Amino acid sequence: MIFHVAPMMGYTDYYFRNLMHFLYEDKVKTYSEMIVDKAIIFNTEKTLTKHFCTLNKSVIQIAGSNPNEISQCLNIINNIPYISEINFNLGCPSSRVQENKLGLALTQYPEQVNNCLKEFSKSKKIVSVKCRLGLGLDEDQDYIYNFLNMFKSNNIGKVIIHCRNGVLNLNTKKNRTIPNINYKLFLKCLKDFPDIQLIPNGEINNLDIINNFNKHNITDVMIGRKFSDESLFLHNNGISKINDIDSKVINYLSFILQYPIVKKNLIQKSLLTLLTNLKDSKKYKKKILNTKTIDEILSIFQKREIIWS
Ligand SMILES: Cc1cc2nc3c(=O)[nH]c(=O)nc-3n(C[C@H](O)[C@H](O)[C@H](O)COP(=O)(O)O)c2cc1C
Repeated sequence: MIFHVAPMMGYTDYYFRNLMHFLYEDKVKTYSEMIVDKAIIFNTEKTLTKHFCTLNKSVIQIAGSNPNEISQCLNIINNIPYISEINFNLGCPSSRVQENKLGLALTQYPEQVNNCLKEFSKSKKIVSVKCRLGLGLDEDQDYIYNFLNMFKSNNIGKVIIHCRNGVLNLNTKKNRTIPNINYKLFLKCLKDFPDIQLIPNGEINNLDIINNFNKHNITDVMIGRKFSDESLFLHNNGISKINDIDSKVINYLSFILQYPIVKKNLIQKSLLTLLTNLKDSKKYKKKILNTKTIDEILSIFQKREIIWS
C-alpha cells in the first residue's frame, strides 16, 4: 500500500515532508501545503524555494479559480524539472479561501471548475484533484458523481476524496468534525468509476480502517492528522517497520543541511512528531528543544540517545 501524506498548511512543510521520505522511502507520497497559483506567477522563485529543493519528491498542491491564471501558473511549473505531479485543491473550506472563490467554494460553480480543469488537462505533468464528497450537510450523490464525470472528461486519472462533505461558512475545525465520514458513498464511487484511481482520505487513523480499505483492493490511502501528530504511526502499528530510525534521521538531517534555507525551529518541529506514544517522550522533547545548533540535534541521533519502541 502507498500512504499519501495529506497536504496540511502549517504542517507538511519542506522539513516534515522530507522526514517522511527518509523514514518510509517509496511507501509514502507527500504533498506540499496549498499554494495559490498567484504566488507561483508573481513570486516564482521565492515560492518554489520555500517549498521545494531540486531533489524534490513531493506533489505540488495548487489552488486557483481563474483559468488564465491557472494556465500561467502551469506554464511555469511545466518548466520546473523537479516537480512531476500537480494536485488541484477543490476541497478547502477556509474562509479566506472561500472569499477568493477557491477550493470548496469554487465547486458552487461547476462550469468554472470545468474551465480550470481544461487548463490542467493541457499540463505535461501528472494531474490529480483533491475534493470533498459533497457540499453542505446532506448526503448528495449527484455532487460527487457529477464532478467525477467532469474529472473523467478532462482526463484526470486520479482523485483524492476527503470522505465527508464540506460546508461553507463553517470554520475549518468544525468542517473536519461536523459532516459525517461516509466511506460507504466513497466505495460506491469506486464501483461506479473504475477508470479513475480514487484515493480515500479522512479519519484514516488505525489499522482496522486501513485493512478494510485493503479488502476492497484499494492500494493507496491518504492520511493527514495522524501523520502530522505521529510520523512513526506506520512503524508503531507494525504497518511498515523501519529498521534503524536513528540512521534515517541522520540521513534526513544531513540532506536538510544542504538546503539553502535551514530553519532550526522547523527541523525541531518535524522531529518532535517522532516522539508521540514513546515512553519518556517528554524527556526527549526537552532534549531536542534545548539544542542550540543543528549539530547538537544531529548528535542526539548519532549517540542513539532515544529508545524507540
Ligand atoms: C491544519 C490543517 C491544514 C490543512 N491544510 C490543507 C491544505 O493545505 N490543502 C488540502 O487539500 N487540505 C488541507 N487540509 C485537509 C487535509 O489534507 C485532510 O483532507 C483532512 O485533515 C482529513 O484527513 P485526516 O482525517 O487524515 O486528517 C488541512 C487539514 C488540517 C488539519
